[in-house]
Amino acid sequence: MNKIICIANQKGGVGKTTTAVNLSASLAAAGKKTLLIDADSQGNATSGLGIDRILHGQSNFYHAMIGQVTLDSVIVETALPNLHMVPSNQDLIGMEVEFVHLEDREVRLRKLLQSMNGSYDFIIIDCPPSLGFMTVNALVAAHALIVPLQCEYYALEGLSYLLNTVKLVKANLNPGLSLDGILLTMFDARNSLAHRVAEDVRKHLGNKVLKTIIPRNVRLSESPSHGLPIILYDVKSRGAFAYMALAEEILRRGT
Ligand SMILES: Nc1ncnc2c1ncn2[C@@H]1O[C@H](COP(=O)(O)OP(=O)(O)O)[C@@H](O)[C@H]1O
Ligand SMILES: [Mg+2]
Repeated sequence: MNKIICIANQKGGVGKTTTAVNLSASLAAAGKKTLLIDADSQGNATSGLGIDRILHGQSNFYHAMIGQVTLDSVIVETALPNLHMVPSNQDLIGMEVEFVHLEDREVRLRKLLQSMNGSYDFIIIDCPPSLGFMTVNALVAAHALIVPLQCEYYALEGLSYLLNTVKLVKANLNPGLSLDGILLTMFDARNSLAHRVAEDVRKHLGNKVLKTIIPRNVRLSESPSHGLPIILYDVKSRGAFAYMALAEEILRRGT
């Protein structure tokens, strides 16, 4: 089994990286061999797992994407035995421009992942906040897509652009891509607006909305500064419970 899931939304600050890191960690804790790929030049998933401290001067995701090194050679271990990661940093910023002239610019990541050939049960890709080549590469390489939506007033704004991009990718490059779910994040149960937004999203998107809702939880926002996923930082927090429930929901869905 090998399932590739990309976490995408062109909006920043909606919980993509938090979800990528903590879903990966929860799947790993459930015994699944998991690879987390940081596809964002901001490198937040990388620093969130404390990897940036060992990264200086080493090859990373960018060097694999431009074909200088193999993907295998840039994989690093994390504090969780079942969780490996492909780190990134600002090297990746140039990629959007450098890729414009490449013929296979949309399928580079898919080709790299094919070389992994079933070494992992799950591969999770943390996308940047844009619909550029990097996100398109992730959508082309993935079997499934999870879209985090922050429970705030403008939650649905821009979603149609993303879903349209998904439609184009499905029509042209990756017919098997499935929207495995809209994930409601940063839900504040005391805020009546959050309830209304959640209701609204369910009304519009129905069974595309994942059952698990990620609550707003301060422990989740603290854990990256310790370089740890929530299950290692505070396993008893509501954030940890929520991401473990998300992993269970994803595992129930299977491949
Ligand atoms: N459920 C949550 N509760 C509290 N803070 C959160 C939660 N999810 C994310 N955050 C915080 O919100 C900010 C944006 O989240 P992040 O995952 O980096 O979003 P994105 O990757 O979409 O830009 C970060 O500071 C993160 O720690
Ligand atoms: Mg991010």
